[in-house]
Amino acid sequence: MDILVVGGGGREHAICWALSKSPKANTIYCAPGNAGIAEVATLVPIQVKEFDKLVEFAQQKKVGLVVIGPDDPLVEGIVDHFEAAGIPVFGPRKNAAYIEGSKTFMKDLLKKYNIPTAAYEKFDRYEEALTYLRTRPVPIVIKADGLAAGKGVTVAFTIEEAEQALSNIMIDKVFGESGSQVVIEEFLEGQEMSILAFVDGETVRPMVAAQDHKQVYDEDKGPNTGGMGTYSPLPHIADSIIEEAVKTIIEPTAKAMVAEGRPFRGVLFAGLMISPDGTPKTIEFNARFGDPETQVVLPRLQSDLVEIFLAAINGTLDQIEIKWSNEAAVCVVLASGGYPASYPTGVPIKGLEAVKAAHPSSLVFHAGTAKHEAGEFVTNGGRVLGVVGLGEDIIAAREQAYKIAKEIDFEGKHQRSDIALKALV
Ligand code: AMP
Ligand code: GLY
Repeated sequence: MDILVVGGGGREHAICWALSKSPKANTIYCAPGNAGIAEVATLVPIQVKEFDKLVEFAQQKKVGLVVIGPDDPLVEGIVDHFEAAGIPVFGPRKNAAYIEGSKTFMKDLLKKYNIPTAAYEKFDRYEEALTYLRTRPVPIVIKADGLAAGKGVTVAFTIEEAEQALSNIMIDKVFGESGSQVVIEEFLEGQEMSILAFVDGETVRPMVAAQDHKQVYDEDKGPNTGGMGTYSPLPHIADSIIEEAVKTIIEPTAKAMVAEGRPFRGVLFAGLMISPDGTPKTIEFNARFGDPETQVVLPRLQSDLVEIFLAAINGTLDQIEIKWSNEAAVCVVLASGGYPASYPTGVPIKGLEAVKAAHPSSLVFHAGTAKHEAGEFVTNGGRVLGVVGLGEDIIAAREQAYKIAKEIDFEGKHQRSDIALKALV
């Protein structure tokens, strides 16, 4: 069948790449895609929020499957549009994507169903939020209710920082309407971990676990980013803890969504904190694949991704086998100088072709690239490339990723040098 993937980052490159290995996949379209995705899919110049145009395109091409990558269109109801047109689509409907679209909804849901998460209060009035905040110890966490391009969360280590975050959200409205409500929550200590799961209502099929590195600099210093690197598996976190997270958090959340009349179908992504005593608690839920988690999870998938997506759509996830390799994967993000603040674009990238020739099986997922008329790759985003190394263990995979990362260069290139080191202590 022909397939349409909606999105244009490193996550969508990894999804298109995994789909392209399926014998069931014929032409893969990606809207809008990027210059790297063009190597495995046909680019379609339609933006992710142009729902009518996307539906019309899918009808015209008679695609048999649509896959939605990013959160924004999901929260705005893109899946409902495709469903109304009778087109098979993988992703949660608007009422289920709300689990990512509203932090107050998510926190209230978890509280109602006794699912472990940080203690919290929610406010829609600044004065009340401020009064409460002043009674709380630091560190403390302030979150804008709605989507904020990954920037709506502040972990404040001083009361001044916390008050500043609150006023940014509620007075200055730097995230617009996303900040009309805030969540103020307890700071959780421990190790973070991401578990993504295929979900078709009540059936939850977890993927292999991964860990992201959100801060821009080594040792988790500097501002938060979309993610500077990932790795999988997590050899330093016991399988029993991962199983506990699935049993106590992801499965009950899927059931709760069904009970609330918002059945979730798609990828449910749990951001978790493992406390020092080994108890997992929920930090956040996302309604989609993670970026750059997907870049290390999908290379470990041995089953056919098209079959998994169709099973999720048809409600038969409990009937298929999903196999994962024992290999380790490490992804190092190469970012533009200045990211996550402002950065230049259009900077020539050197070494991509040479890497492909020297390491034919290497995986370099493009996050933000474009092609000049002369055919040369240039930067076109904050996160530019995700270089993935594979190996028998994290040490080997890490070595491979950094080796390839060194062979690719562009002016201002920034990468963390400590991706996956937490696994090795
Ligand atoms: P989010 O945008 O919800 O993923 O939050 C961004 C980051 O803030 C998370 O990856 C955590 O590192 C941190 N964070 C969020 N909530 C908490 C919390 N309750 N305790 C500690 N850190 C948190
Ligand atoms: N890497 C974190 C996210 O996709 O939200």
